[in-house]
Amino acid sequence: MDIEKVRSRFKKHFDGTEGSVYTSPGRINLIGEHTDYNGGFVFPGAIDKGMVAELKLNGTDKVCAYSIDLKDYVEFGFNEEDAPRASWARYIFGVCREIIKRGGKLQGFNTAFAGDVPLGAGMSSSAALESTYAFALNDMFNLGIDKFELAKIGQATEHNYCGVMCGIMDQFASIFGKEGSLIRLDCRSLEYKYFPFNPKGYRLCLLDTLVKHELASSAYNKRRESCEHVVATIAKKHPEVKLLRDATMEMLKEVKDEVSAEDFMRAEYVIEEIQRVLDVCDALERDDYVTVGEKMYETHHGMSKLYEVSCEELDFLNDVAKRCGVTGSRVMGGGFGGCTINLVKDELYEDFIAEAFKSFTDKFGRSPKLYEVKISDGARKLA
Ligand code: GLA
Repeated sequence: MDIEKVRSRFKKHFDGTEGSVYTSPGRINLIGEHTDYNGGFVFPGAIDKGMVAELKLNGTDKVCAYSIDLKDYVEFGFNEEDAPRASWARYIFGVCREIIKRGGKLQGFNTAFAGDVPLGAGMSSSAALESTYAFALNDMFNLGIDKFELAKIGQATEHNYCGVMCGIMDQFASIFGKEGSLIRLDCRSLEYKYFPFNPKGYRLCLLDTLVKHELASSAYNKRRESCEHVVATIAKKHPEVKLLRDATMEMLKEVKDEVSAEDFMRAEYVIEEIQRVLDVCDALERDDYVTVGEKMYETHHGMSKLYEVSCEELDFLNDVAKRCGVTGSRVMGGGFGGCTINLVKDELYEDFIAEAFKSFTDKFGRSPKLYEVKISDGARKLA
């Protein structure tokens, strides 16, 4: 992350002034996909790629925002009808609105930001942006909002201003991240636990298909609706079931004839995936990376065949990983494109990457992108 770049552009754009600088990262998720909005477990960690923003009060009642990467400038006020059209600016506007809805008092500010989280790669660049501003505004205006509420402000921004009915995982990881640790979050109770993650003899890398699904957000919302529909059906017999987290496979089978085949598959995947997170945490406590890897492959299979959020390129990379003897590999994040996350033995690493690049390029006529990840700290003030 290039702090100097942000500082110099801010200066240039806002008459040589200097403000405060904040950052918040993107995330990986070892396992537990599409479980968050079902009240299940997730197992993310913040990464060493994120957003950096500089902010300074400007004495008006307007936000003057500059996106350094997009070279785009937008001004907006704090009322609902001031919503900017540019989608990047809606994230900042949404965070302001959600703070105001919670009683926070804001004043106009100038801001410029840039980031190095690849867009649309499943590493949560949007959560990084929301968390940066939620954290920054809370700090600058001394609002005293707790960390969970900051994450919820980012999530509500997605729901109310960006049209994605996401869960809490991405914003949680971006705010709560800790260097060297993954975090198991129970999305029903919001209890969480840090797990030091230092798989000796292994490397964790992401391979980006560079596929970006146009309709990813509507498909995502549709998955969520399937889950809610199954819950409503199960709850007729079992009123204690409020989320898929509360349901068992037996309960799901009881309603097999009352839900569509598609909704059934979606719920089957989620119920299995919630258990896989717990299995992976147990395995990690024994340093049993073979089991961790097996569960990752199971997740990929479920996301591809039951939840149907994979794509040809992701399935292809998953097959290459299997063929090369990679310990674990799966599509990461919401899906419909983006990256696979791979747990690879040190001695296989070079060969695997070479083979993945070669076979992917042969098949699709372009190369994927490789990111090595370092588990890092969450939202913080830099200067
Ligand atoms: C996106 C959402 C998260 C989560 C993942 C899938 O990243 O923002 O809330 O649902 O997809 O696990």
